[in-house]
Amino acid sequence: MSGSSSILSAGSSLEAAEKQPSTQLQWSTRLSFILAATGSAIGLGNIWKFPYITGENGGGAFVLVYLACILVIGIPLMMAEVMIGRRGQQSPPNAMAALAKEAGTTPIWKVIGWMGVIAGFLILSFYTVIAGWAVSYISVAADTTFVGKTPADIGAMFEGMLSDPVRLLFWSTLVIVTTLFIVGKGVKSGLEKAVNILMPCLLVLIIVMVGYAMTTGYFMQGVGFLFNPDFSKLTSKSILVALGHAFFTLSLASGAIMTYGSYLPKSVSIAKTSIYIGIVDTAVALLAGLAIFPIVFANTLEPGAGPGLIFVTLPIAFGQMPLGTLVGILFFIMLSIAALTSAISMIEPSVARMVEKFNISRFKACSILGLALWLLSVGSALSFNLWKEEKLFGRTFFDTIDHLTANWMMPLGGLAIAIFSAWIISKKVSQEELGLGNGTMYNIWLFTMRFITPVGIIIVFLNALGIV
Ligand code: TRP
Repeated sequence: MSGSSSILSAGSSLEAAEKQPSTQLQWSTRLSFILAATGSAIGLGNIWKFPYITGENGGGAFVLVYLACILVIGIPLMMAEVMIGRRGQQSPPNAMAALAKEAGTTPIWKVIGWMGVIAGFLILSFYTVIAGWAVSYISVAADTTFVGKTPADIGAMFEGMLSDPVRLLFWSTLVIVTTLFIVGKGVKSGLEKAVNILMPCLLVLIIVMVGYAMTTGYFMQGVGFLFNPDFSKLTSKSILVALGHAFFTLSLASGAIMTYGSYLPKSVSIAKTSIYIGIVDTAVALLAGLAIFPIVFANTLEPGAGPGLIFVTLPIAFGQMPLGTLVGILFFIMLSIAALTSAISMIEPSVARMVEKFNISRFKACSILGLALWLLSVGSALSFNLWKEEKLFGRTFFDTIDHLTANWMMPLGGLAIAIFSAWIISKKVSQEELGLGNGTMYNIWLFTMRFITPVGIIIVFLNALGIV
C-alpha cells in the first residue's frame, strides 16, 4: 500500500470516488504481477493433480482435451478476469458490480464474483491438506526413508501417513497458519521475492527428475502415455474433468486472478501476460507428467492410482538415484512453496472482500477466515481415514468439495465471466483495457469469449449430465 501511490493514481480508469483504496495494494512492477500470478497458477494442480487425473483418465486423449481447454477457454478467460479486476479496482464481487454499473446493467453480476470468492475458499480447505502431505514429506525424505525401499514399502509408507489423522491435521494446520500469516502481513512484501527465486528452482528440479526418468528405460512409454491419444478412453466425464482442471490449474473463476488483476498497473499488457502464464503453467504440468509416468511404468505401478500418485512414484526415484535424498528434500521444499504461493492467492480474495466490507485489519480478517478454513480442512483431512466411509452421493468430504468446485462452480463461473466480459461490458472498455486496439487479436478474443467458450462449456456440461 505504501510507496506505490504514483502507480496507484495512474492506475484506474474508474473515478477515484468509486474505488475503495484502503484495500488496494499495488504490484510494484509488471514482473511482480507475472510472478505472483504464475505463483498462483503453478502449484499442486500441476505437479500433484495433473499427473494423477491424467492417469485416471487414460492419458493422451485426456491431455489433448486439457490442452485445448487451456488454449481456447483458459487463456482468453484469464485475460477477461485480469481485465475485470484491473478495471474494477476492488474485490471480485464489487469489481463485477462496478463494471456492470458502468455498462448500465444490474449489479446482480456481483453474485458471480461471490461464487468465485467462495470457490477459492472451499478449494483452499482441501488444498491445505494436500500441501500438508508435501510438507510432511520434506522430513520423510530427510530421514533417508526412501533409500533401499521397494515400491511396495513406499506405497505402504504413504498409506500409513493417510491413515493417521493427527499427523495430517498437524501438517495442514501448519500450512493454514503459515498461509494466513503471510497474507495477514499483506501480499506484496515477501511474496514477490519468494516467487522470484523459488519458481525457477522448482523448474530446475523438475527437469532433473525428467532427466532421471530418461534413465529408467521406460521414458518413451511415459511419453506415449501422455501424448499418444487413445480416444476410446475418453468419456464425457473425463472431458468435464479436463475442463475443470484447466480452470483449477490457471486459478480461474475463483477470484484469485481477478483480485491480482486489481493490483495490476495500467501499463501492463494483459494479453501477453496471460499467454505467458498459460504457457509456463502448461509446461510445468507436462514436465511433471514426463517425470512421473516413466517411473510408474518402470516399477509396474498403476497410472490410475489416484491422489497418492506422486507421493509413491517420485520417492521411488529419490530412493534410487544418486544424491536422491538431497534431491528429494529439495523437491518437497519447492513443492510446498509452490503450494503456498497458490494457497495465498486462494485466500486473498476473501481477505480483500472482508477488509473492504467490515473495515477491519488484514490481520483480523485472516484470523477469522483462518478459523473457518481450519474447520473445513478437518473434514478433508479425515476423509482419508476416520471418515473414509462417510459418503455423500458416493463421495467423501474431500471428493465432494473437489467435485463441487472443479466440476461445477468454476466452469459455471467461467461461463458467466465469459458472457459478462464479451456481451455485457462495452467493446470500448474491453479494447481499452486489453490494449489490443481493434485488431485481429482483439477480435479473436472477442469471438472466443462470445461464442466458443460459452458454447464449449455448455456442451461439456450437458454432455456430462448425459443430455447430449
Ligand atoms: N492453480 C493452482 C494450482 O494449480 C491452484 C490454485 C490457486 C487455485 N488459486 C486457485 C485453484 C484458485 C482454484 C482456484 O495448484
